[in-house]
Amino acid sequence: MSSAENQDVSMEEIVSLCKRRGFIYQGSEIYGGLRGTYDYGPLGVQLKRNILNLWWKVFVEDREDMYGIDTTILMNPNVWVASGHVDTFNDPLIEDVETKQRYRLDHILEDAGVDVNGMSLEQMVEVVKEKGIKSPEGHDLGNAAKFNLLFKTSTGSVEDEKSVVYMRGETAQGMFVNFKNIMDSFYPDLPFGIAQIGRNFRNEISPRDFIFRVREFEIAELEYFIEESSWEKMFEDWVSGMMHWFELLGLPKEKIHQLEVPEEDRAHYSKRTVDFEFEYPFGTKEIGGLAYRTDFDLSNHEKHSGVKLRYQPKTPGTQPFIPHVIEPTFGVDRMVLAVLSNSWREDEVGGEKRMYLALPEHLAPVKYMVCPLVKNKPELVEKAREVFGALKKKYGAVIWDDNSNVGKRYRRADEIGVPKTITIDYQTLEDNTVTVRDRDTAEQIRIKINEI
Ligand code: GAP
Repeated sequence: MSSAENQDVSMEEIVSLCKRRGFIYQGSEIYGGLRGTYDYGPLGVQLKRNILNLWWKVFVEDREDMYGIDTTILMNPNVWVASGHVDTFNDPLIEDVETKQRYRLDHILEDAGVDVNGMSLEQMVEVVKEKGIKSPEGHDLGNAAKFNLLFKTSTGSVEDEKSVVYMRGETAQGMFVNFKNIMDSFYPDLPFGIAQIGRNFRNEISPRDFIFRVREFEIAELEYFIEESSWEKMFEDWVSGMMHWFELLGLPKEKIHQLEVPEEDRAHYSKRTVDFEFEYPFGTKEIGGLAYRTDFDLSNHEKHSGVKLRYQPKTPGTQPFIPHVIEPTFGVDRMVLAVLSNSWREDEVGGEKRMYLALPEHLAPVKYMVCPLVKNKPELVEKAREVFGALKKKYGAVIWDDNSNVGKRYRRADEIGVPKTITIDYQTLEDNTVTVRDRDTAEQIRIKINEI
C-alpha cells in the first residue's frame, strides 16, 4: 500500500515518458524534427481533449452569457494591421557576432539571473555590455533588434506583397471580427462573452522547454464584453474564475502565482494584465493571463473596416457604444504540461520502486484497464472480454492488457495514470467478482461485476 505527495520531476523524465508511452512526440521526428513543433500521440490528445471539453463546458455550455465560435487561422491581413500586431507584436533579439545566430535577449538575461521586467531594448543591451554576458556558445553578443512574431504566408498562385496573409497569432481577433455577427444573430445583453479554442502560430526565436514555448500551439480564450464603468469589478471576478479553473485541473493553489504585469511589459492593447504562473519543473512561468483590453480592438476594427461595432442598449433613447473587454486566456499546451508534471509521483509498492501519474480521474486519458489473470485460459479471457466490452461501451477510454504478468501490467497502467485496473481471475468464474486495484494506493478490493 502506498500514497505519495507530488514529487520533483525533471523535464527529461517527462519528455521521455511522453514519448515512450504515446503522449507527445517531437514533430516530424523521422526527419530530425522541426524546432518548436510537437505532435500529440493517442494518450496526449485524449488528455488534451479532456481538458478542453471541460473548459468548453465550464466557460461556454454551463453559462448563459457565452457564445462559442470557431474562426479561421487565415484572416484578411488588415485584421492584423488594425489589431496592432503587424507593428508591435515583437520580441527583442540579439545576435552572436561569430555564428550570426539570433537569441531572445530577454531569455539570455534571465538565464544570467537578471530581472528584465520593465526593461527597454536599449536597457537590456546596456546590461549585456556591463556584465559581459556571452551567447550560449560563449561568443560576444552584437546587434539587437525587435523581431515580429507573425508567420507570413501567401494566398493564390502569385507570391507578391498583395498576396501576403498572416497565420493568426492569437484567436482573439477571430472573436473581435465576429462581434457584429454575434450581436446580429443573438441580441445578447451586456455583459456577454465570445469564446474560442484554436491553433496559433508565432515565430518564436527560441522555442524551449518542450511544449511550453513552441511555434504552433493552442489557446483557449474568451473576450468578455462589458460596460467600461464595471471593468475593475469584472476583472476581479475573472481572477477568481481563473483560479477556480486551475483548481478543476487539479493544480494546487500554492503552485499558481499571480503576477501584476507592469505597464512597460504589458501587450500594446492592455491597460491591466495579471499573468497566472505555474511552478513548472524548469521554473515558475506563465500558464495563462487576464487582460483588460479596453475598447482597443473593437475601436480599431471599426476604424479600419468602416463597419460600426457598437452595442445598442435595449432601453429606448440610449445611444450605442463600443463595449470594453476583459480577456481570460489559457495556453492549452501549457495546461497539459502543468497537469502532467503536477501528477508525477514516485513511491514504493511491495518493496519495489514505482512511478505513477496521479492524474485527476476526470482528466485521465484512460479510465480503466481490464486484464484476464492469464491469457491461456479461454474461459478467463472470454469473461474478461465481456467486462471490457461493457466498460468500453460505457466509458470509451478503456484499455485491454494481457501481456506479461499482472505486476508489470499494473506498472504500465500506473505510468499512464489509469485510475483503476480490473482483473478477472478464477474466482470470477465462480462468483462473478473481480479485483479492482486503485492506482494511487495500490490497494485491491473485490467487488461484484455489476458494482463496477
Ligand atoms: N489573446 C491574448 C493572448 O494571445 P498571450 O499571453 O500572448 O495572450 C495566451 O497568449 C497564452 O498562450 C499564454 O498565456 C500562454 O499560456 C500561451 N502561449 C503564448 N505563447 C506560447 C508559445 N510560444 N507556446 C506555447 N504557449 C504559448
